[in-house]
Amino acid sequence: MFCFNNSQSKAWKKLQNLQKHFKKTEMSELFEKDKDRAKKYTLELSDLTLDYSKNRFDDEILKALFELARERNLEEKRDDMFNAKRINTTEHRAVLHTALRAPSDSKIMLDGQNVMKDITAVLAKMKKFSDDVRYGNFKGYTGKKLTDIVNIGIGGSDLGPKMICEALKKYQMKGMHCHFISNIDGTNAYEVLKDLNPETTLFIVASKTFTTIETLTNAKTCRKWLIDALGEHAVSKHFVALSTNKEKVSEFGIDPENMFEFWDFVGGRYSVWGAIGLIIAISVGYENFEKLLKGAHEMDEHFKTAPLEQNIPVIMALLGIWYNNFFDIHRYAVIPYDEYLQYLPSYLQQLDMESNGKSVDKDGHFVKYATGPVLFGGAGTNVQHSFFQLLHQGTEFVPVDFIVPAISHNEIGAHHEILLSNVLAQSEALMRGKTVSEAASELRKAGKSEDEVEFLKKYKSFTGNRPSNTLLFKKIDAYALGQLIALYEHKVFVQGAIWNINSFDQMGVELGKQLATNILPEIQGKSFSQSHDGSTLSLIKKVKSFRK
Ligand code: F6P
Repeated sequence: MFCFNNSQSKAWKKLQNLQKHFKKTEMSELFEKDKDRAKKYTLELSDLTLDYSKNRFDDEILKALFELARERNLEEKRDDMFNAKRINTTEHRAVLHTALRAPSDSKIMLDGQNVMKDITAVLAKMKKFSDDVRYGNFKGYTGKKLTDIVNIGIGGSDLGPKMICEALKKYQMKGMHCHFISNIDGTNAYEVLKDLNPETTLFIVASKTFTTIETLTNAKTCRKWLIDALGEHAVSKHFVALSTNKEKVSEFGIDPENMFEFWDFVGGRYSVWGAIGLIIAISVGYENFEKLLKGAHEMDEHFKTAPLEQNIPVIMALLGIWYNNFFDIHRYAVIPYDEYLQYLPSYLQQLDMESNGKSVDKDGHFVKYATGPVLFGGAGTNVQHSFFQLLHQGTEFVPVDFIVPAISHNEIGAHHEILLSNVLAQSEALMRGKTVSEAASELRKAGKSEDEVEFLKKYKSFTGNRPSNTLLFKKIDAYALGQLIALYEHKVFVQGAIWNINSFDQMGVELGKQLATNILPEIQGKSFSQSHDGSTLSLIKKVKSFRK
């Protein structure tokens, strides 16, 4: 029997006590005491290295965190996911995004069927179609090669493809251009369409449900744009759909032949590994798409088989829990030092915050502990010149994940060496800090007067002892990217398992959608309702007065 009441959890209590004694311990002292600390707390998987030594823990804490994981039956829960148990309990669904990247000869049974049969068929269809588009065998209606691919989708049907197309830009086929329309704001569609030629444009309508208002509205706008230029008959040569919903796809006017399918056992934010990745396969070639799957699969195997003590996603998750639930730090930052990974933080925001931003546990109780943290981030070094001030001198620490490739895709001059020195310096600075007396002596050395030294020394000091992980890759190619994304997926899974929440639904996005449906006719002047609060009513009025 699981014990989800923390007051009855031995490991939880132990960790609470350990935190009381440990909260003042300086990481730099731990490094002083143990010369092997870095080595001891570094893990490797192929060309990926995780150094988690700059975190506020010792062996005893780590041991208690593993106890907590075992107390919460993490290993059984992990196996349940891989073994197609219906762990998405509110929607009664299995969670099998890992099957999308499993070798084709795997046997993954769901309801008496091996899901690999359908998965391999769709992947083969993707391979053929992406090759045909890339090499001009599938042409536009007027016989021209398709050179601009527009992915129309939102959330999981946008963020993954967009992030990965950018991350692998270096591998993009010459003359092939990717575009993304996600926002209902017409500006998004306008800005994308204004420079495109309908004859050479392919639209991919990506929507798991095929009911999402943003995607369907954008798709209708694009369809009209195409028909206005080339006529109704052009649609089948310029529109394909990625969905689980065949009926809605054909209702929309896309031939199911032009549809790439996925299934309800793949969550939207976990869907980039199958049909939703079509634009990636077109952009960088199916071979690279396959490498992405292989990298992710290696991480799946690692997650499935490595003991908890050497398990990269498990350790990252447990450290996150340590800060979130025992230090009361409910945020973390992900900072890729790689311009090509600039969209990674937004992608991870959906992955983490839509999965674990929950308040009711799997047994139907409101939880009495913190669950998913706020995630934010941006590409280094840019963010060093924006929010890093708070990371270094703010009143509370923010755990950071630094991600960096040792080799850049674009080795120009000394750029990459400067970038590398920056990422390493940031994690060192966060940990080491600078005492008030160190700041004072630096000021004196710089020739400042004693008055100035006195005045400035505190402003120039840094508390330090601020934790970070460093994920170092040799190079971030498709394989490495697959490892990286799967790592975060499993990290999120582990935390959800420990918090006993369902990481695979997203009911929190519904209320806003519902209310928007009520407000729309009011803004359109079709109906008027008094059933809003005073603020909403007066804002509706004001909006309407501006639009008169
Ligand atoms: O509103 C949230 C959400 O359901 C996400 O979970 C999902 O990724 C996104 O909307 C898009 O959904 P769909 O792919 O069904 O259009």
